[in-house]
Amino acid sequence: MLQVLRAAYGEWPSVDLDTTPLEHLRWKMSARDGLEPEHLVILVDDQIVVTRLRWQNRIQVGGRTYLNETGADLAVHPDFRGRGLARLMVDTWVPEFRADPKASLSMRSTAPEVQTMDFPDEIVRPINTWHRPFRWRAYLGVHRRAGLGALLRAPASWRWAIRHPRAEGLELRELESFDQRFDRLWESARNAFDVIPFRTAAYLAWRFARPEAGNASIVGVSAGEDLVAYAVVKRSGDVGQLQDLLWHPDHPQALPLAIEGAAHLLRSQGASGVTCWLPERHPAEQILRRAGFAAVGRQSLLAGSPSEGLTPAEVLQIVGDESSSMHITMSDFDWV
Ligand SMILES: CC(C)(COP(=O)(O)OP(=O)(O)OC[C@H]1O[C@@H](n2cnc3c(N)ncnc32)[C@H](O)[C@@H]1OP(=O)(O)O)[C@@H](O)C(=O)NCCC(=O)NCCS
Repeated sequence: MLQVLRAAYGEWPSVDLDTTPLEHLRWKMSARDGLEPEHLVILVDDQIVVTRLRWQNRIQVGGRTYLNETGADLAVHPDFRGRGLARLMVDTWVPEFRADPKASLSMRSTAPEVQTMDFPDEIVRPINTWHRPFRWRAYLGVHRRAGLGALLRAPASWRWAIRHPRAEGLELRELESFDQRFDRLWESARNAFDVIPFRTAAYLAWRFARPEAGNASIVGVSAGEDLVAYAVVKRSGDVGQLQDLLWHPDHPQALPLAIEGAAHLLRSQGASGVTCWLPERHPAEQILRRAGFAAVGRQSLLAGSPSEGLTPAEVLQIVGDESSSMHITMSDFDWV
């Protein structure tokens, strides 16, 4: 499988890791949060020539829990392209899923070949890419279109995030692991959104706390004994990603602190900026703007699957409703 992935993508994975690519692949294919992995390959003459991993998690939609499953690392060996094998792989997905309906949220691949592939019956919601460069020249570049107001506001807000009086009583610090406080935060935060993938401590530990998963760091904001916000960042080269965040609905002032802490950490690790993804109209948008982020791009969240009936109708209805609030981050997909 690794040979096919490398032949198809060149470098795989394309991020800095302290472990081998094979260990990373095994991590990616391993069970998580009690979900059994299921992956597909196509063989020709006993040789694997196509891979498709399944990325699974649990998701809460409209207060109910569903399995969420989407394909990842679709790769056809270059010698076997243009014969319909990718199409076969995508369509083969269907019958297996029919008995066990799942929410199927995915991000459309930006690969040009995949852009041309036809995936009917999909609901598309925009996901914004937010970026805050740490260097002034780049900072001015991304904010040029946002107008002078954004330029003037952002640097002041960096100080605001740290010194805002409502932030008193909160403590920001780097954390080493995902302890039970993360479960309590998840239970407090999960009903604040119509659509939110699970963020239990066990899942977060699988997703971020293993070296095969990449170089993640955690910042947490506490109020006394309670964790009231966290952010998880990853750095690869000079690329910094704010991969995940969550906050307690009763402590909205903890979120700017977590975001600021995440940015400080990435800057100290040598990143040139910080990027994150959030669905359009996410409640954190205003906070990101105040923290010096600008919306620099847009991607598509897809819901549903190519064949009718695989995704429960109520999931499609809620995800497709523009007034539904969604908390989706980079970490909900296989971006490492
Ligand atoms: C993308 C990829 C999986 C396609 O594999 P493939 O077996 O050659 O594709 P198929 O022959 O099954 O064709 C699938 C569809 O893609 C289209 N397609 C395939 N290669 C294309 C190309 N070079 N340019 C434009 N369209 C292309 C086909 O027209 C077809 O469309 P349709 O099924 O809607 O009619 C393969 O090129 C690959 O492994 N690329 C590198 C890895 C990658 O980018 N993976 C996707 C991101 S997860």
